[in-house]
Amino acid sequence: MNMIRARIAGTGSATPEMILNNADLEAIVDTSDDWIIKRTGIRERRIALKGRNETTLNLATSASLKALEMAKIGADALDMIVVGTVSQDMHFPSVACFVQDALNAKKAAAFDVSAGCTGFLYALSVASNAIATGTCRSALVIGVERLSAMTNWEDRTTCVLFGDGAGAVVLTSSQDDGILASALGADGTCWELLYSPNGSPNVPEILKDTYRKPFFIKMDGNRLFKKAIISMADISSEVLEKSGVSPSDIRLVVPHQANFRIIQALAERLSIPMEKVYVNIHKYGNTSSASIPIALDEAAREGLLGPGDIVLLTAFGAGLTWGASVIRWSF
Ligand code: ACO
Repeated sequence: MNMIRARIAGTGSATPEMILNNADLEAIVDTSDDWIIKRTGIRERRIALKGRNETTLNLATSASLKALEMAKIGADALDMIVVGTVSQDMHFPSVACFVQDALNAKKAAAFDVSAGCTGFLYALSVASNAIATGTCRSALVIGVERLSAMTNWEDRTTCVLFGDGAGAVVLTSSQDDGILASALGADGTCWELLYSPNGSPNVPEILKDTYRKPFFIKMDGNRLFKKAIISMADISSEVLEKSGVSPSDIRLVVPHQANFRIIQALAERLSIPMEKVYVNIHKYGNTSSASIPIALDEAAREGLLGPGDIVLLTAFGAGLTWGASVIRWSF
């Protein structure tokens, strides 16, 4: 008997219009374009503005409409909407419920998943399992983040890293292609490496029109750096073994975009050449749970993926959490 799997039928992404480049940051904190590029690979990031109505909901909805259009299915066919995010517009209800309303996806169950930067892969795993077990036949999975609302613009060790955006995929069921295996992990004992305490930091003039939350981001970058490489490499090896795929079979790795050096070290540990690794961190910085679906959408639209191609997704984030999925691409 053939196994039912979830396949990605369409991708979409949306990023805010405002570009904050490294030169802009030089005017805000004691940093330099050279330091940021050498240590992170980031050249610019997108920032959501109130004046442009770039809410978490609107970014998520724009990305979703593009994914639905590519998948050629209507929102009324969706059975489930799962959103990975830590930067929802309201404390509750979930972003997913607002998206359900915006898309008029009347029969979809809707909820959010909070797993830091691994949010999209956690959401993807939940939705693909729901399809594989027959709970639903189609799902919309979104990664959306507006971390600018909780950035401490006086902390140069974090404010240069993050950006805003959204990405989405539409899942339908398949008997051949699709998500071959997923694996997830967490270690709550290391929560202090990346968290968000209360406090409202000052905002520089150029960023006065951003949304604000009454908390900000605190991070131990050095320790996270090492944990990120080990966790993503280990879980990638685990999921490759689970799916019976060897690293040499991989057409493209789409990793979480947190730091170019982390991505390079990951590729080295997996013995995968950098030509097979998708990188767009220079344009968007770290968009947390949006980074993988944005990168996947760009890779798909650039024609880098075709039927039968093996794709490895892997992420790491606050919690700590980590995860990986292996996909046999289907279009
Ligand atoms: N500009 C200039 N100098 C800086 C800056 C800056 N923006 N930030 C730190 N420095 C200085 C430090 O003060 C330090 O100075 P010192 O040597 O005089 O003390 C020096 O640069 C080196 O600092 P390190 O922290 O050791 O630099 P490192 O090479 O580790 O890079 C970084 C820092 C980029 C944060 C790196 O550790 C990293 O990327 N860590 C992982 C972060 C991450 O992945 N976070 C998110 C994971 S989960 C998620 O995605 C939400």
